[in-house]
Amino acid sequence: MGDKKKMTIPDFQKYKDEGRKFCYVTAYDYTTASIVDDSDVEVILVGDSLSMIMLGNTTTVGVTLDDMIHHIKPVVKGAPNTFVIGDMPFGSYNVSKEQAIQSANRILMETNCDCVKLEGGVNMAPTIEAMVKAGIPVMGHIGLTPQTATNVGGFKVQGGTPESARQLIEDAKALERAGVFALVLECTPSVVAEQMAKEVHVPILGIGAGPAVDCQVLVTQDLLDMYGDFKPKFVKHFAHIRKEMVDGLNLFHKETLDGTFPDRDHSFNKKVEIPPAKD
Ligand code: KIV
Repeated sequence: MGDKKKMTIPDFQKYKDEGRKFCYVTAYDYTTASIVDDSDVEVILVGDSLSMIMLGNTTTVGVTLDDMIHHIKPVVKGAPNTFVIGDMPFGSYNVSKEQAIQSANRILMETNCDCVKLEGGVNMAPTIEAMVKAGIPVMGHIGLTPQTATNVGGFKVQGGTPESARQLIEDAKALERAGVFALVLECTPSVVAEQMAKEVHVPILGIGAGPAVDCQVLVTQDLLDMYGDFKPKFVKHFAHIRKEMVDGLNLFHKETLDGTFPDRDHSFNKKVEIPPAKD
């Protein structure tokens, strides 16, 4: 705590070149961001997963650009020493290059976050190239791309056949040529990530992509065992905060009912002479 130095965009490549691993997690609010800021984790994503984790929707489609900006702002305030990525929601970049640049400009200018991230491979490379030429720092996201997961039958491992594995690596190469400074690779066999790492130079940030990548990504509510709806195979629980919270709430409830809360230490004990009522 206190001596954390904020990562910069060039650091992503530097860390990779030096073989130095790092971590990235999600946050959607000020308090969580400030907790991550107190930790050793280097990067925060304000992901569109907020649609599911925070808003209770069944997919990530359904959050708007305004919603994202609303959540990215407090995260940036809460984590001054952590690199913050603003996720671009579905519908904010798929109309045209101009729309993508305008949406990214809004995210960067209204929230002061450090870069934007968007989903898509070869198909999005021309858009990403235009954004990078416009001066926007872009992180790519390939593999399982939740915004379009319905097209592939839901949240499934990607790159599981020789052809789809090759396509995924070609996606990564297209994004690298387009100018991304790093890319998220989600939910793919470890061997595909390993081969990709041999064919692209930019850092690969893996979520469910095995150990051969440069950075491990997890949703905070997953890794701390807070989100109860489902647990993907790649999620490991590093703490059990949901149980801690339920236990704390139950203790508050019990002490309220049995009268042990509030005690003198948690009450204002100043003597006040209250005059009798006038009538
Ligand atoms: O929105 C999100 O949380 C993400 C991660 C899964 C990388 O995009």
